[in-house]
Amino acid sequence: MVLQLQKRTMALAGVVMTAYLIFHMLSNLSFFSQNIFTQFYDIYNGGPIRWLVLLLMIAVIAIHVKIAVKIRKVNAKARTIDYAQHDKFKIPAPLVTVSIIFLLSFIVIHIVQTLLFDTSQLYSEVTQLFQSEIMVLFYLAGLFVLTMHLQHSIANVLQTLGKTSVIYHGLVWSGVLALTGGFALIPLYIYFVMP
Ligand code: HEM
Repeated sequence: MVLQLQKRTMALAGVVMTAYLIFHMLSNLSFFSQNIFTQFYDIYNGGPIRWLVLLLMIAVIAIHVKIAVKIRKVNAKARTIDYAQHDKFKIPAPLVTVSIIFLLSFIVIHIVQTLLFDTSQLYSEVTQLFQSEIMVLFYLAGLFVLTMHLQHSIANVLQTLGKTSVIYHGLVWSGVLALTGGFALIPLYIYFVMP
């Protein structure tokens, strides 16, 4: 019962994060027009909104991770013998752990980097960040792991709701790829296209 409630809280935190990610990706796409990008972030950084959003995100990430760790511990205790048969596409458990730790580190590093930005020069700060190959690769790797994580977790939630058809899977893949692909356009554009 308690676990059920926690799973729902975790999914709710996931919904809040996904809503933020859609908003964040769309506002980042304004990068293609320096004017719109600068105007948007001037307003966003002008009042308390940015700090409230940041606090909300830190809170929901912390709740999501705390419950995930707890559920993993309960599951590990309940299943001491591995399944005899797995999905065709099974990623080894240690790799899942490493990828989740990488995703969390990516988010923390990204937040720290943006906190060090001069917000009155955000356009050139972002442009400068993606002059570096290492940073482009780091962000693309973070977005790849985020894609896998979102696809897997949304498919799981849909399975719980009994929605397992190919159409739903296709919709999840398209939505997730549109989201992470939208993010990836910025570093790729800066590194490969911008003069
Ligand atoms: C290439 C991809 C991305 C770019 C170019 C980017 C850019 C930015 C920028 C410029 C800010 C600072 C905004 C400000 O000064 O107000 C920011 C903040 C933030 N980003 Fe990203 N971001 C990217 C991907 C992501 C991803 C994938 C996540 C989460 C998984 C994320 C989470 C956050 C959070 C939590 C903040 C702080 C709250 C906020 O200012 O909205 N970002 N990002």
